[in-house]
Amino acid sequence: MSETLAHSGNVDDSKRTWLIATSCAGAVGGIAAVVPFVSSFQPSEKAKAAGAAVEADISALKPGEKMTVEWRGKPVWILRRTPEQLAELPKNDSLLADPKSERKQSELTPAYARNENRSIKPDTLVVVGICTHLGCSPSDKFQPGAQPSLPDDWPGGWLCPCHGSTFDMAGRVYKNKPAPDNLEVPPHVYLSDTRLLIGEDKKA
Ligand code: FES
Repeated sequence: MSETLAHSGNVDDSKRTWLIATSCAGAVGGIAAVVPFVSSFQPSEKAKAAGAAVEADISALKPGEKMTVEWRGKPVWILRRTPEQLAELPKNDSLLADPKSERKQSELTPAYARNENRSIKPDTLVVVGICTHLGCSPSDKFQPGAQPSLPDDWPGGWLCPCHGSTFDMAGRVYKNKPAPDNLEVPPHVYLSDTRLLIGEDKKA
């Protein structure tokens, strides 16, 4: 399957990448299920396609819940992690390819997310939901423990259905997987306790 995807086009093109993502098993539900927040999108469709920042109202997001907003044609996941999920993160470090998010910092992890949680506020993770291998959208696997395609001591995270890359609850990729890098943390900033701006990080 990797050969097919590898030769299917320019995976760096956002439209193409999204086509690949939505063609993968289980990927479609990711963005369709979300969007109780469509009304919070401020820019026009044209502006959004051009890369305008989008606002997200996270006031309804409870611990353990994830929502998705669309930015530059890509799904951006906002996950409010539980204290238990946060407590697991340091235990994963030796199993991860880039636990400190030191690779491709300018592309993947802004300075304010270069910490153990990869987030501004410890509980709230913001990542682009596109696998860094060939652009599929990983599936939520937040439930810890043994389950198909995952290790028995799985602590919760994401599984990419295309070629099996796994990511922890901070979007950090596990070692020896096809995906080379952690999930991208997009530029973002809090406009208030409950409003996030995704795509810019200069406003406050
Ligand atoms: S696209 Fe290949 S593992 Fe995710």
